[in-house]
This record gives sequence, C-alpha cells and structure tokens, in this order.
Amino acid sequence: MDKKKGVLVSGGGGYIGTHTAVELINAGYEVVIIDNFSNSDESGVKGVREITGKDVPFELVDTCDKEALRKVFEKYEFDTVIHFAAYKAVGESMDQPLKYYQNNLVSFMNIVEMMKEFGRNNVLFSSSATVYGEPETLPVTEESPRQPATSPYGNTKQMAEDILRDCCRAYDSLYGIALRYFNPIGAHPSAMIGELPRGVPNNLVPFITQTAAGIRECLSVFGTDYDTPDGSCLRDFIDIVDLAKAHVAAVDRMTQDKMEGKYEIFNIGTGRPVSVLELITTFEEVNNLKLPYKIVGRRPGDVKAVWADTSKANRVLGWEASRPLGETLKAAWKWEKNIRDME
Ligand code: WQD
Repeated sequence: MDKKKGVLVSGGGGYIGTHTAVELINAGYEVVIIDNFSNSDESGVKGVREITGKDVPFELVDTCDKEALRKVFEKYEFDTVIHFAAYKAVGESMDQPLKYYQNNLVSFMNIVEMMKEFGRNNVLFSSSATVYGEPETLPVTEESPRQPATSPYGNTKQMAEDILRDCCRAYDSLYGIALRYFNPIGAHPSAMIGELPRGVPNNLVPFITQTAAGIRECLSVFGTDYDTPDGSCLRDFIDIVDLAKAHVAAVDRMTQDKMEGKYEIFNIGTGRPVSVLELITTFEEVNNLKLPYKIVGRRPGDVKAVWADTSKANRVLGWEASRPLGETLKAAWKWEKNIRDME
C-alpha cells in the first residue's frame, strides 16, 4: 500500500463512510475500512466492494479499543485517516450523555494518538453544522461563531474540533481538516449503498422514504409556524455523493501538501436553503407519488434556519455541490425501494 495513497476510513461501514470510500477509490486512493457495526452492518462494505470492484480491506474494530486500533496501524500503510466513527442521534445524546462523550471523544483521541505514535500526517474529521446552533446571520461562514451546543452530540463535535486544532498546533507532523456537513441526504445512484437508520428514523428524508414505502403510516412535519417563507424550517440539504466528493477534495489538499496552515475548517453544503415543505413537494413530484403527512408541533431543539456559505470550499478545495435536489430525492426513493424489494 502506497502510504501517500492510503486512507483509513473509521466508521467506514456507515452512510457517509461508504459513499466516501467509493469516491476515494474512484479517485485512485487505497482505502481500508474499520467499523464496529454498532450502527451499520456488513452490507455497506459489500456495497463498496461491488460498486468499485475492489476487495476493500475491512477490519471489525471499535476505535475506542486502542490496542485493536494499534494493530490496524501496524498492519496497514496509510498517511491519512477520515474519522466518521461516532454516535450521531441528537435526541439519544440528551438521554445518554456519557455514552456520547465516552464513545465520540475517546475514539477520536485514540485516532489522533495513533497518528502521532506512527508518524502519520493527515486527519480529516467529520464535523457538523450543528456547531453553529441558531445562527445570528445567514448564510453561515466558517468564521461564524459556534453557539453553545444544545446537545451532548453537538458538544462532542465542537470538542473534537478543538482537540484536532490543538493537536495539529502541538505536533509537527499532524495536519487536520474539519468538514462541517449540513444535512446529508440521498443515496448512491446504483442504489447499492445508502442510509440505513436503525429503528424509527430521526432525520427527515429516511422518514419520508419509509413513509412512502408504507413502513411509517404518516410523516409528521414538526411545525409550520416559524418565521420563514412557508412557515417550515429551512435547511441546507447536501447530496451524499457531493458530500463524499468533498472528502476527496480535502484528502487531495492534505496529501498534495497544499495546506496553508496546520488546521482548516470547511462548510460542506449547497448554499441553497430549502424548506421542509419544499423538500416534501419535490419528493412527491420527482417520484410521482403522494406522501401522507400531517403538521404537528415544533420539535424541541430544532433551529429555524441554517444554511451554508460554501465559497471557501468552492475556492480553496475546488469543490461544489452539483446534484439537483430532485435527483437526490429520486436516488433516495430508489434506494428505499431496493432495500425493501419493492418495484
Ligand atoms: C431536518 C428538518 C425537522 C424529521 C440533524 C443533526 C445534524 C445532522 C443531521 C448528524 C427539521 C424536520 C425531521 C421528521 C420533520 N446529524 N423534520 N419531521 O435536525 O436539521 O440535523 O441531522 O450529523 O447534526 O442536528 O436534521 O433531518 O432531523 O431535521 O419535520 O420526521 O426536518 O424539524 O426542521 P436536523 P433532521
């Protein structure tokens, strides 16, 4: 394995990890996936192998297990790690804060410690627009202030960003990029990988596709009394394949030694606000179906509106989102039908 082309993808069995592994391989990188399957299963890794035709190495590893992680670093030559492995359910984190702080922070600190111990150079961290909370001004730039986290999940994202920043400053060989995702949605056009939420989906699009599939009776729209054009919340829904390609652009930047500093942050979104009701209407139109939904009260913790200023990623990474929302929602529905063996 060529160290410069080698990329370890922790949590690579998950939704964003699998899509990113595919795009990395398409770009010529040699990927190793590790995952503990706490929120995914082997089907994602199989999908990556089928799509790329590569027998991608996989290790069943919990990144909180430092000795198991050390064995991965001893076995494989890679200079870059993309760290996805984390719990990500906002609501669950409110009920189980310690589970989130231990898992999300210990796993990340183990990764950074191993990078230092083995003299590996590049860490790409999966952060989130949730760090912006309820922004005062929109769109948010990377300089927009982070708001005090409203959930332990969001707090682990902010704390991990600071851990990465401080370690890059302290350790000569370490470089880091944090990608702040907005709302990832959709699936690979092949419908061989996609989002596989366990239990009742928290997020909007998987709830929509499961409702369309008849698995859920009716979608609840959490509030249309916001001060927005149609009363429903505004979000920046970013296609999962566009998001995956942003990771390739960030890895290119690090492996080609183009970093201007030791630690950089990028917003990864479309820059286009879309409302919940607009997304529902678009889903119905492009998939030619009627979605049963009802308007209910607001969901505690929801922000009214958040979307990205993506000019820094456009300019510095040479990346921008390109897939139209309709195509993304077609792919989401195709994926749902595929996993439910529906026509
Ligand atoms: C989007 C909009 C809901 C479900 C969260 C995390 C973020 C990232 C993405 C992990 C909101 C509305 C939703 C439903 C609805 N997660 N909605 N009915 O809350 O913007 O972001 O997920 O990295 O970090 O904070 O995403 O999809 O849950 O909600 O009306 O059944 O859809 O009120 O306005 P969110 P979401």
